[in-house]
Amino acid sequence: MGCSGGLRAVRSALLALLLGFSAPPWLQAEKLGDGCGHMVVYQDSGTLASKNYPGTYPNYTVCEKKIQIPQGKRLIFKIGDLDIESEKCESNYLTILSSSTIHGPYCGNMMPVPKEIILDTNEAIIRFESGSHVSGRGFLLSYASSDHPDLITCLERANHHVKNEYSRYCPAGCRDIAGDISGNIVEGYRDTSLLCKSAIHSGVVADELGGQINVIQQKGVSRYKGILANGILSQDGSLSDKRFVFTSNGCNKSLSLEDGFIPNSHITASSSWEETSEIGESVQWSPDKAWLQVQGISWASNHSSHREWLEIDLGEKKRITGIRTTGSTMLKFNFYVKTFIMNYKNNNSKWRTYKGILSNEEKVFQGNSNYGDLVRNNFIPPIVARYVRIIPQTWHQRIALKVEMIGCRITQANNSFTHPMWQRPSQSTGVAVGKEDRTITEPIPSEDTSLGERQKKVLMAHLMHKTQVVGNRSSSPLSDISQQNLPSAIIMKRRLHKSWI
Ligand SMILES: *[C@@H]1O[C@H](CO)[C@@H](O)[C@H](O)[C@H]1NC(C)=O
Ligand SMILES: *[C@@H]1O[C@H](CO)[C@@H](O)[C@H](O)[C@H]1NC(C)=O
Ligand SMILES: *[C@@H]1O[C@H](CO)[C@@H](O)[C@H](O)[C@H]1NC(C)=O
Ligand SMILES: *[C@@H]1O[C@H](CO)[C@@H](O)[C@H](O)[C@H]1NC(C)=O
Ligand SMILES: *[C@@H]1O[C@H](CO)[C@@H](O)[C@H](O)[C@H]1NC(C)=O
Repeated sequence: MGCSGGLRAVRSALLALLLGFSAPPWLQAEKLGDGCGHMVVYQDSGTLASKNYPGTYPNYTVCEKKIQIPQGKRLIFKIGDLDIESEKCESNYLTILSSSTIHGPYCGNMMPVPKEIILDTNEAIIRFESGSHVSGRGFLLSYASSDHPDLITCLERANHHVKNEYSRYCPAGCRDIAGDISGNIVEGYRDTSLLCKSAIHSGVVADELGGQINVIQQKGVSRYKGILANGILSQDGSLSDKRFVFTSNGCNKSLSLEDGFIPNSHITASSSWEETSEIGESVQWSPDKAWLQVQGISWASNHSSHREWLEIDLGEKKRITGIRTTGSTMLKFNFYVKTFIMNYKNNNSKWRTYKGILSNEEKVFQGNSNYGDLVRNNFIPPIVARYVRIIPQTWHQRIALKVEMIGCRITQANNSFTHPMWQRPSQSTGVAVGKEDRTITEPIPSEDTSLGERQKKVLMAHLMHKTQVVGNRSSSPLSDISQQNLPSAIIMKRRLHKSWI
């Protein structure tokens, strides 16, 4: 039933599309959206999952996505999870198509799906299709170039590993994958934590880029404290046998403690709040209260606007790898900064806005979510500057901050920054993170659909597009492939291709 139901759906959807009819309600999901879920597609690596993953993927949906890495490299895929309800992969399946081969269709949840697929090419199309079904998580996979044979998926946990020290390659896009991590960079992470998400939490890799992680396994501790860092909230965790930490390049000192406290004249603000306390005393929420190491109230601005700032002069040009912030730290004053951006400059230069690693827009950091907890954000790549400004974008009740900058002196770290994670990618143009290619959701008709000339043209355009997408070659990517076991839609495509092009 799944198969013929799927075919019928495909046919009527196509007709509705071509003839401009509105689709019946049960088809609208397919028409509007698509079967793609979380997708981070960067030119060196990425992560793809079906819609709602790890929840159940929708009925009658298609996700088709082209993956391309730089020319001359070979694509590696790692399948982290595959749970597609189907016995014969007829209308629910996943395939990976390159110009020379087709991998799959894959379905089920126990079948021998390869954990790793290495292609001869630098391009492929991932195609996921569903018919009518009741359960199934769909799929989650990662890709990278063959320069990174130690690629893992976002679902890999440290307790899968037995060695005490190892190195792996995390793909881009693991931050928003469901799954717990417990612990923090100082005490380490519980071994049940997801490796790549922990690496983003600890500031070792950027979600937008992924990268190499070096893991050291250690004896567990009795408790793991959860904190918010780099937009990820880790959980509190209980005793475990093992925990893990990431090796660090050591550029993680407190820049306000390095040479004793920075003089108060080195911290200034756009305005500060003067409060009259219950007993009639004047209380200054001045910028010198903003040092994290100083107990008591924080800095607070007199005004609430996006033009307020807190400025720190580090005395000399430093390499700044992170920032830790809290709010007022006072139960009575529920003030904190929810998001902020960073500006930086050197002696005589203009203020510049810190941008994300790939994006051309200012990077908005996720700050505090209450008045008291410490939140950390890392700068990848680091900021190299003498002056920095924290510019609050959103806040709760009133702008209030205590801060600590983390980093190191430049001379001290001269040779420590050859690690790729500190370098901008050589070609940062090209594929934008989070942006999707055109996703094809229109179904393909079966042979016996009778179509007029206009409709044929529409379909031809569609197929031409596909041919370009698949291989940059004039021949059909599917022409050498046996029809056996092929999902119906692919067979139909091939027939159409032959008869019309
Ligand atoms: C798909 O449709 C069937 C029949 O209408 C329904 O029983 C099932 O719950 C649907 N599955 C999903 C994932 O929505
Ligand atoms: C800072 O780096 C040193 C040297 O690599 C390391 O031993 C230490 O644990 C790091 N501290 C933090 C808080 O990451
Ligand atoms: C705060 O702002 C108010 C109104 O804009 C102003 O009257 C007051 O002098 C300001 N206080 C400080 C300490 O700047
Ligand atoms: C910046 O100014 C400081 C003191 O004002 C000086 O010591 C330093 O050399 C200057 N740096 C540059 C790069 O000009
Ligand atoms: C950095 O450079 C200085 C002087 O050029 C040198 O003395 C020092 O050993 C270098 N540090 C490292 C970590 O290589």
